[in-house]
Amino acid sequence: MADMQAFEQECTQFFRPLWPGEDKILVFGDGNTDHPPLMLIGEAPGEQETLKRRPFVGKAGKNLDGFLELMGMERQEIYVSNVVKIRPTARGTSGRVRNRAPSKEEIALFLPFLMKEIDLVAPRALVTLGNVPLRALTGDKSTIGDMHGAWHTAVNGLPLFALYHPAAIIYRRELLSVYEQDVCSLRDSLTIQTQK
Ligand code: URA
Repeated sequence: MADMQAFEQECTQFFRPLWPGEDKILVFGDGNTDHPPLMLIGEAPGEQETLKRRPFVGKAGKNLDGFLELMGMERQEIYVSNVVKIRPTARGTSGRVRNRAPSKEEIALFLPFLMKEIDLVAPRALVTLGNVPLRALTGDKSTIGDMHGAWHTAVNGLPLFALYHPAAIIYRRELLSVYEQDVCSLRDSLTIQTQK
């Protein structure tokens, strides 16, 4: 716990000076930090996550509830975080602030911190949600379409299971059954995979 607090402080001290005058809020990981069975890794927080300072509490969080139900797990058993810990935003033509995908530069800046966070939490397995964490953690350029629903090895040697991002399922309803099948294969193979 003290280690996580030190990690969050180090992260804050590194990132705050990068955006002088901007009120960028860092949204840190949440859940079981003591060798959990799974660490779920998303892309970046959205509006709700930034308001509540907690990952996956907005629309994407509803899918997380569905994931936990299929897995037969409680949220507090696992650890949930994001690659990028600020909300990447852009202004639409109407002037409204909207979410955007994190840039390569943002991902590169946050990746060393994510690796440190994984070391501290020491999960038995990683689950990536969408392309951003999958590519960042495998170094692979393949897409989620090719890699979802299967085990891979992360750059630090941990077993990594690739899932579609919850937002993809919201926008592409036809992916829901694929996603559910993937979660069931994760559930059915988790014990074997983490005992290797
Ligand atoms: N999408 C993500 O990737 N992360 C969140 O925390 C919320 C939505």
